[in-house]
Amino acid sequence: MCGIVGYIGERQAVDVLVNGLKRLEYRGYDSAGLSIISDSNLITYKKQGKVADLETIIEGKNHRSNIGIAHTRWATHGAPSDVNAHPHRDNSGRISIVHNGIIENYGLLKKALIKRGYSFHTETDTEVLAVLIGAFYEQTKNLELSVRKALSEVVGTFGLLVLSLDEPDRIIAARRGSPMVLGIGDGEYIIASDATAIIQYTKQVIYLSDNEMAIVSKDNFATKTIDNIETNNQIHQIEFDLEELEKGGFEHFMLKEIHEQPYTIQNAYKGRLIADKGNVKLGGLRNVADKLRNAKRIIFTACGTSWHSALVGEYMLEQLAGVPVEVEYASEFRYRNPVLYPDDIVFAISQSGETADTLAAVYEAKQKGCTVLGIVNVVGSSIARETEAGIYIHAGPEIGVASTKAFTSQVMVLALVALYLGRMKNLSQLDGKRIASEIIQLPDKINQILARCEDIKQIAKKYIYAKNILYLGRGYNFPVALEGALKLKEISYIHAEGYPAAEMKHGPIALIDENMPVVFIATKDEIYHKIISNIEEVRARGGKVIAIATEGDTQIKQFANDVFYIPETLPMLTPILSVVPLQLLAYFFAKELGRPIDQPRNLAKSVTVE
Ligand code: AGP
Ligand code: GLU
Repeated sequence: MCGIVGYIGERQAVDVLVNGLKRLEYRGYDSAGLSIISDSNLITYKKQGKVADLETIIEGKNHRSNIGIAHTRWATHGAPSDVNAHPHRDNSGRISIVHNGIIENYGLLKKALIKRGYSFHTETDTEVLAVLIGAFYEQTKNLELSVRKALSEVVGTFGLLVLSLDEPDRIIAARRGSPMVLGIGDGEYIIASDATAIIQYTKQVIYLSDNEMAIVSKDNFATKTIDNIETNNQIHQIEFDLEELEKGGFEHFMLKEIHEQPYTIQNAYKGRLIADKGNVKLGGLRNVADKLRNAKRIIFTACGTSWHSALVGEYMLEQLAGVPVEVEYASEFRYRNPVLYPDDIVFAISQSGETADTLAAVYEAKQKGCTVLGIVNVVGSSIARETEAGIYIHAGPEIGVASTKAFTSQVMVLALVALYLGRMKNLSQLDGKRIASEIIQLPDKINQILARCEDIKQIAKKYIYAKNILYLGRGYNFPVALEGALKLKEISYIHAEGYPAAEMKHGPIALIDENMPVVFIATKDEIYHKIISNIEEVRARGGKVIAIATEGDTQIKQFANDVFYIPETLPMLTPILSVVPLQLLAYFFAKELGRPIDQPRNLAKSVTVE
């Protein structure tokens, strides 16, 4: 959940660490801290709040140091505070660690350590690990061995960096269930929880595997399992560029990412869609094509926004390929002993590829013998590596905590999978061509929507009084209603709910009055007249209606207070267009309310804890 960065080399460690923390801040931002070794002293600074707050206490200190570790926290155990911020030390004060994840048996370990005379100063689970490593060090006088011994007693997840005054020439890194990437520079190494903190220094990286550790010194490194078996790792090349981590003139990453969508969805279908044949080539699925063709059932598992895109995928696959699809919250799926058959295909959908619940669902499905595939954005991420095959969505780094471009790219890739499978089955070439020709018009159509983003801003201003907003849609637009509501909640803190429009009369209609705006996604399709009836039901009760409608639909103006038009496309592709004004609506609401849009309270970009 949090961000971790470590540095060893010739540069001033503090600069590299603070820089890295800034790049990683989107992963967790309730406190930040760092430890360095300078003139044979282990120096630690930590502070509740943002990386900028940490910077203010470091400013002017000018410590010379070439080795250090740092952390931005997303608290799981113990309130966000200066004391609970990482790094944490052992009882000797000579070992310092940063940790991402949860030490589940910290209570038992803590009790046992207290009995042995050790003391604790924070409420965190992490401090227990630091003290345990220190306790082993007293006996072994060997840092690596102490880390290994401590980790073998720990239940839970960790991405871990350890620094010690007694072995000041090395950093020890380890992972289980939390990502850890080792950047290999020229005479320097940067170790971080994601590649965004590394790319400024090198593009060559190694992705540590679960239960693997790295012992990194200035001139070399070794990797081995926590059980001390040497490992060999392939060196990978980071695929994105530094500019992709900048705001590029936009006020927020979220706004930039919304505006990137014409380009990112193109990246998702480029080289895959064979428009003149109405077909799709998916290299990543080549080896599982037969299994896919013969699957009696497909299961999508995901969380949050990725779960919403899975719902769109369900409708698409059932429509084009006639295969039954189930969509599962990964968090529920992993714990409820789902009935799975070996010929089921399970797709895990995740932007980060690190969501703990989704990763656990992957393990569960593998255990039950299913073929498990991934639809993932972050290259080299855990889900990408743990799945048998898969498709990258190629949306580039998504930094805004509220997911936007990943959603449209996931939906795009799911449309390709539906088309691919449909064409293997009963979908005609003519239908395939029609879908393909609509797909390639989408980037231009998104641009047309973005060009009118000022209109959405005006709508947000008009309804800024709202404390609650309902989002309603039917068919393909039902998941979009859920997504629109989630975006608004996340970044504006306005309460919002998404519902299938027809469900409104089974309960939510009781909420409707003149203070409760309702957003209808009412694009033209076979059930358009049904949604118009739902709009009438709201109007009859004094509700205010904001409609997202298809260009040319003049009729809807009679029913809605405000209308935003989007270009026409096939119903199955509509979510890629209809979600864009809702992303902008959430953005402008949040902006009007002065919210910290890229880093909303209590949230972090990738949820690597349960
Ligand atoms: C979306 O705006 C969220 N911040 C969140 O729901 C997210 O989609 C979810 O945590 C899943 O993340 P993933 O796609 O990286 O697995
Ligand atoms: N469990 C640790 C804590 O609460 C680490 C949290 C994190 O991953 O940021 O401090």
